[in-house]
Amino acid sequence: MDKSSVHRTNMIGGGEVGAISVDMDKRSIHETNSLFWDTKGTDVLGETALPFYGAFVSEEKCKLFGDVSGKKMLEIGCGSGHSLQYLGERKASELWGMDLSENQIEKTKQHLTACGLSATLICSPMEEECGIPESYFDFVYSIYAIGWTADLEGTFRRIASYLKKDGVFIFSWSHPIHKCVAVENDRLVFKKCYFDESWYSLPCLNGS
Ligand SMILES: C[S@@+](CC[C@H](N)C(=O)[O-])C[C@H]1O[C@@H](n2cnc3c(N)ncnc32)[C@H](O)[C@@H]1O
Repeated sequence: MDKSSVHRTNMIGGGEVGAISVDMDKRSIHETNSLFWDTKGTDVLGETALPFYGAFVSEEKCKLFGDVSGKKMLEIGCGSGHSLQYLGERKASELWGMDLSENQIEKTKQHLTACGLSATLICSPMEEECGIPESYFDFVYSIYAIGWTADLEGTFRRIASYLKKDGVFIFSWSHPIHKCVAVENDRLVFKKCYFDESWYSLPCLNGS
């Protein structure tokens, strides 16, 4: 895989036999994904938010953040704003959120206002320069959003630049094996190589 290229092969239906391949560039990935998160994607938001990192892991159990009082926090892909709410209620001193989707930014703003909290919110792809200060944050975190990046290494470099010295980056994402294994006749069957890092597309929710 050419990691520096903005053009890679996109796998349509990574879990299906005979997956279709198409070329996608960063701009069309962002257009596709922001349309999804502006519309159908809103249905799942709030379910992937702190205190839960995922289905089985929670902040209350793992204490990856610990005491956040007085800390400056930035969320990458803030979605509905529920994670910012969780950290705001634990006395973080500054809340910042960024998201690709204008609708999600608006949702975060409304949700935090209703909770009596405020945040600096920025609508931008995480891959791009968007005015977030450097060497500023105690924590940068992302709950089920980092995997949407079209440039993982560049995004991680950017995130590192936002952190203070000794600042901490925390993220959660689904295990890649979920994209490799399908259920067939009550059996789990490998449909895709675990080491295949090609792009893949997911069907929209509700099968449409
Ligand atoms: C599964 S949601 C998680 C959001 C949040 N944890 C929640 O539960 O509300 C993923 C979020 O990432 C955002 N996103 C997708 N691609 C992005 C990108 N390239 N840059 C910034 N945000 C992105 C989406 O708009 C969406 O709000």
